[in-house]
Amino acid sequence: MAEYKIAWLPGDGVGGEVLDAAKRVLDRVGLDAEYIHGDIGWEFWKTEGNPLPQRTIDILKSTDACLFGAITSKPKDEAAAELDPRLQDKGLVYSSPIVGLRQLFNLHTNLRPCKAYPGNPLNLRDDIDLVVFRENTEGLYAGVEFHPVPDEVRHALERHPKMKRFSDVPNDDMAISARIFTRVGCRTILRDAFEYAKEHGYASVTVVEKPNVIRETSGLMVREARGIAHEYPGIELWETNIDAMCMWLVKNPQRYGVLVASNLFGDIISDLAAQIVGGLGFAAAGNIGDDYALFEPTHGSAPKYVGQNKVNPIATIRAAKMMLDYLGEREKANAIESAVAQVIAEGRVRTYDMGGSSTTMEMADAIAAAIH
Ligand code: IPM
Ligand code: MG
Repeated sequence: MAEYKIAWLPGDGVGGEVLDAAKRVLDRVGLDAEYIHGDIGWEFWKTEGNPLPQRTIDILKSTDACLFGAITSKPKDEAAAELDPRLQDKGLVYSSPIVGLRQLFNLHTNLRPCKAYPGNPLNLRDDIDLVVFRENTEGLYAGVEFHPVPDEVRHALERHPKMKRFSDVPNDDMAISARIFTRVGCRTILRDAFEYAKEHGYASVTVVEKPNVIRETSGLMVREARGIAHEYPGIELWETNIDAMCMWLVKNPQRYGVLVASNLFGDIISDLAAQIVGGLGFAAAGNIGDDYALFEPTHGSAPKYVGQNKVNPIATIRAAKMMLDYLGEREKANAIESAVAQVIAEGRVRTYDMGGSSTTMEMADAIAAAIH
């Protein structure tokens, strides 16, 4: 029997191509694993009315970790229109399966390291080394949303004086998405960020919120951050607003180390942080919980590149590397990290995003060949 069981979820679009590329590298480092394919994504929404079938959830439950490719997500009405005719009018509502998996398995911590590899022509500067910790199950992604607003919700909200401004707006002309933070959710992501900073020698943790305006939710996160920071005397806590952070990340990204934010703000700054070190072709994420973890490139399914063997597989190869770290396979993880750095520094093999014409598999082969 293999040492590990890995759930293998290619999903939509280029997901299959980038997972094939990662597999080549995992085979090269000699990971002793059984890879179990799971169905997920748009195809299963259209044909079964569920992009995340129960059989796939069962596969995840029986494995040590998951490698995930990409999925196509569309807004509510477009999604409903693409359903198989036999499933229309059944009241099925599309929701993102990756967001669903994060919540279902309580993968509370979304870890997104964004480090500039020397020699990458896409770096904004070469001395950037950021790690984003994004809360992964709450906030504006909690899914507690209303349109039209039901009467009882409306009445409950009208206890708040600020609702007076909206008193003339009909229920159907109002939409509400609740931003829910829990103390335990805030503490968990903050603790993980500080622990990571301590373990990896980062001098600062920056909490990225907007407590001057969003007083209650952002306020809770920042207060908890101050409390936890006391337990880490060697690490400075910096507090920055999300809007200013976007500016600082373009202006002086080299000054920052670990960034921590709630779900949507973390989503936003992680794309920004990814872009200054090469873009989504390099950005990997670990969705990590207490008992399980799922690793993915942060790019989407890129439908226009499907079947062209063109997209940069480094993001997914780095996701596989993070999975090895999670499994405790440090030596293999480090071997992949060094090989990626070497291939980028040599600059002979470059995918289209890097200004070259190498294919997905040529990049994977070059990285595999650089593993010693
Ligand atoms: C990400 C993506 C997802 C998110 C989408 C695909 C639902 O943007 O992982 O950052 O918003 O979390
Ligand atoms: Mg995103």
